Amino acid sequence: MSHPTRRVFLWASTNPTLREKLPQTRVMQRAVRRFMPGETMDEALTAAAEYEERGIGTLYTRLGENLTALPEAQAVADHYATLLDEIRERSVSGEISVKPTQLGLDLDPDATFRHLDRLATHAEGTGSYLWIDMESSAYVDATLDLYRRLKSHHDRVGICLQAYLRRTAKDVESLLPLNPAVRLVKGAYDEPRRLAYTDAREVDASYLALSVTMLRERNVRLGLGTHDVRLIVQLANHAAALGLGPDAFEVQMLYGIRTDELLRLRREGYRCQALIAYGASWYPWYLRRLAERPANVAFVARQMIPW
Ligand code: FDA
Repeated sequence: MSHPTRRVFLWASTNPTLREKLPQTRVMQRAVRRFMPGETMDEALTAAAEYEERGIGTLYTRLGENLTALPEAQAVADHYATLLDEIRERSVSGEISVKPTQLGLDLDPDATFRHLDRLATHAEGTGSYLWIDMESSAYVDATLDLYRRLKSHHDRVGICLQAYLRRTAKDVESLLPLNPAVRLVKGAYDEPRRLAYTDAREVDASYLALSVTMLRERNVRLGLGTHDVRLIVQLANHAAALGLGPDAFEVQMLYGIRTDELLRLRREGYRCQALIAYGASWYPWYLRRLAERPANVAFVARQMIPW
């Protein structure tokens, strides 16, 4: 999407008035269903069945970010703990993915660490895995710090890194000694050119360079969090040149986006996961999805036509 249009959507995602009013409109409520099976944990877990049948694992995230009161973080952590129990109960190969600001990072980083620590322990105990999402650039240092602390005594924890940030090559380098798990994404926030590549070709070049670096090290659980099949094929070619098969990395896509491609990659032998988002606080997340592709806006417009 052209840069100005993308910025309008990213601006709207953080505007308090729109954030309050737009989610109440029927049009938005209908349109978001394309990317979200429902608002409840049960709907998310039910949607997993069709992926599981085809050998595709699932990741879950309960939407919500930037909490304003610390007790809410306790409720969010309790929710994720219940989700981990449900994942085990239903024998789904599910993992969880959480945003630090949803666990109170804006208010008390130590409390956020304690919540994550508890969830990492619970994820290990239930055979699952804890992923930490990456939010806007202001949170990168604090999020990396949380990850380093967690990784020092938990194995089954991963972090998301954003290829559009100029700093990420250095961050990868600093994480490599930890045998990290990294989900590499292009990046979804509105960042200044000073901090981030804003040209799509630069972002793609950074994505490929970073993923090749991690592949070469062979000690990274590498998840490609992208729908860009061209990049995935390029990395697969690098893997082949290194004598590695299609299982050298995982492909992680969002529920409802390019599912046909995810299924095709699975049939070709790639390890695949679908990230299923759910919950009532979907507005900013959904606006970031609209910012990613003009066709999604046309989709919302079509929902306004009552036939
Ligand atoms: P790109 O935008 O170039 O799209 C490649 C192709 O995929 C497009 O041509 C289009 O066909 C299709 N496509 C992409 N987005 C689409 C959409 N919304 N609707 C329809 N088609 C679409 N970001 C972040 O900053 N922090 C995070 O923690 C995460 N976590 C995360 C987890 C997972 C599993 C995924 C897949 C993505 C994220 N992201 C994220 C979002 C990520 O940063 C990025 O904004 C989106 O994935 C879109 O970029 P692509 O890599 O798909 O490439």
